[in-house]
Amino acid sequence: MNLHRTIGGLRSALVPHRPSARIGLVPTMGALHAGHVALLDAARSASDRVVASIFVNPTQFGNQDDLASYPRTEAQDCELAAAAGVDELFIPSREEMYPAGFATWVDVEQTAGLEDAFRPGHFRGVATVCVKLFTIVQPTIAFFGQKDAQQVAVVRQLVRDLDLPLTIRVIPTVRDSDGLALSSRNVRLSPAERQHALAIPRALDAGCSAHRDGRDPVAEARRTLEGTPGVEIEYVATASFDGQPTLAIAVRVGATRLIDNAPLTAAPDATRVREQPSPLGHRDN
Ligand code: PAJ
Repeated sequence: MNLHRTIGGLRSALVPHRPSARIGLVPTMGALHAGHVALLDAARSASDRVVASIFVNPTQFGNQDDLASYPRTEAQDCELAAAAGVDELFIPSREEMYPAGFATWVDVEQTAGLEDAFRPGHFRGVATVCVKLFTIVQPTIAFFGQKDAQQVAVVRQLVRDLDLPLTIRVIPTVRDSDGLALSSRNVRLSPAERQHALAIPRALDAGCSAHRDGRDPVAEARRTLEGTPGVEIEYVATASFDGQPTLAIAVRVGATRLIDNAPLTAAPDATRVREQPSPLGHRDN
């Protein structure tokens, strides 16, 4: 695996592989867990060259404390990426991605609401960094997680609107054995907070089963969350992602913000615990 800290270095490494190789890109902010590894595995099987990026993108953080305390585990991430078969690992500095004088932004106007009210400017940062990564890497396929369903919708929209020549592939949410969706932010939860956070998959299950019984999924999910101490609801809502009705939740547990979602389908087990694809599968992050 080659490690690149500059755009020029990564571009040069990819030149010999264009145009015949299928290039897979997995954008991340690091603190890699089994959810990220599921994306890397999918990229490995669908691509000739796998590029992963690790960049804690400052422009998508409204809250500077959240940015400062975002977990950074670079040495461990490098080992994980190499073990997952990444060919080119891109870890740029802030200055490399946003040099002095940077002034161009990608702003997707048609979004589903949800996150926008609580994280103004967040998707502008996500969209801008994704377009930069797509331009630098020129991937055949870029891999994203269903866990961030609204992010997927934003990325799909910009790919369509800007005629970017790549495919977006979406990978199902990887969960811990107790149902909590893996997230880099889970490491910030105290043991007690982690127990409280389990109300999220419970609420998704309750909402999905209410939906199957012809009842209101939002009311049922809300009821579950409201009955849990230490959980502060930001939103519980339904939205259509990729034509799939979805129940989406955002809560705060202590100082940590967590989001999750599940498809509203006729079949049960929407938040079923998945087989973990890596040795990190049952770690608490
Ligand atoms: P990050 O939170 O590191 O997530 C990187 C990718 O991993 C995203 O596509 C996310 O949806 C996916 N992912 C996270 N948790 C997952 C889980 N439990 N199961 C499956 N996939 C999961 O999302 C970002 O970074 C950033 O916004 C980024 C796209 C890199 C732009 O900065």
